[in-house]
Amino acid sequence: MRVTKRFAMEIHDRIINLDNNATTPVDPQVNEAMAACQAQGLANPASQHSAGQRARRQLEQLRDQICVHLRGRRTSGATDRVIFTSGGTEANNLALCGLVGPPPGRVIVSAVEHPSIQEPADELQRCGFEVIRLGVDATGVVCCQQLTDLLTPETRLVSIMLGNNETGVLQPIRQIASLCEAKGVPLHTDAVQAVGKIDVNFQDLGVAALSLSGHKLHGPVGIGALLLRSTSKIDPLLRGGRQQQGVRPGTESVCLAVGLERALALWLDQAQSRRQQLSATRDQLESHLCRQIPQAVINGGGAPRLPHTSNISFPGVDRQQLFLALDQAGVACSTGSACSSGATDPSPVLRAMNVPEALVEGALRFSVSVQTTHPQIELAVDRIVSVFNHLRRDLQAKNRPHPGRHGGAKTL
Ligand SMILES: Cc1ncc(COP(=O)(O)O)c(C=O)c1O
Repeated sequence: MRVTKRFAMEIHDRIINLDNNATTPVDPQVNEAMAACQAQGLANPASQHSAGQRARRQLEQLRDQICVHLRGRRTSGATDRVIFTSGGTEANNLALCGLVGPPPGRVIVSAVEHPSIQEPADELQRCGFEVIRLGVDATGVVCCQQLTDLLTPETRLVSIMLGNNETGVLQPIRQIASLCEAKGVPLHTDAVQAVGKIDVNFQDLGVAALSLSGHKLHGPVGIGALLLRSTSKIDPLLRGGRQQQGVRPGTESVCLAVGLERALALWLDQAQSRRQQLSATRDQLESHLCRQIPQAVINGGGAPRLPHTSNISFPGVDRQQLFLALDQAGVACSTGSACSSGATDPSPVLRAMNVPEALVEGALRFSVSVQTTHPQIELAVDRIVSVFNHLRRDLQAKNRPHPGRHGGAKTL
């Protein structure tokens, strides 16, 4: 069937996007700023001619502004560095593999990190590092006492995320940073889901490096950054150019940097109202769902959380079935991290929290954005409740003994 533009738009209008941790729509003001940049037809910022130097000046100004937005240090001789990357995955890989130095040594990551930390950590293990996965408690918060015991002279690097992408649970990064600082161990934090959604102050956090990603905060896909303390030494992942002091060679995109800077600036301008709006819509979703489905459980609900993420278990139904039925009913959500979508494996994050198996099997992630409205949440709750009840009824009918000739008894 040929889908007409109008029909496609109608479907699109009916779909309620509760999967904003996967990606967020680009803010129209960000698009405008990038279009204006594109229209300038800038030269390559690595070119030596005057047009190239103009592009370089613009790029360096943007780098500086991004450092200011994230409250990096900007004193003479001690300016924190913004390394542009293609996104959060690359920033995390660069941090983990670039800050660790040569093997052997110990690397500590938490058990609830995103795959873009877990998989480079596996690679470091293959290269001769001892990799330790720090456990979390039942609410999803890492165990600081266990970390203290592991910060020995062999420890080279610690990486703990700021806010979890599946549950929204926040880690006590300031406390972790002071433990690491006392032992002279660099700490990296994956702040991809946190930047904008909560106040992120690089100096206050006390970390050596922080990852962010444009498309998670209404900026463009294709750009992220690693904010790096001025004193941190880092090895590149890529070779073949002198851009970004050789730390991340390759031609920089001034227009994508414009988009990232604008997106961050908009969050700063509207921080309070946006954050209030996010937590109000998330709370509305949770309270209305739990009222109508009393057996629903909010995973990580007992810990401080990001304001836009909710992980909810629906006992007695299969998450994959629920996800597919909701997709058909016009509610887009997720069974886990976008990077492992397609995978039907149960969430390693919920497993690390020791969530009972029946709840892991019925868990879905909902994530709202500043564009999510209260009427959309009302409608989404109606659809979720009706799909849930439908699946439960189906399941009960399947499990009911068949009233056959033998009174429902099974004949073998
Ligand atoms: C916590 C976290 N870190 C890293 C990433 C990867 O970011 P990107 O999609 O920009 O590569 C994601 C994406 O979902 C994420 O949620």
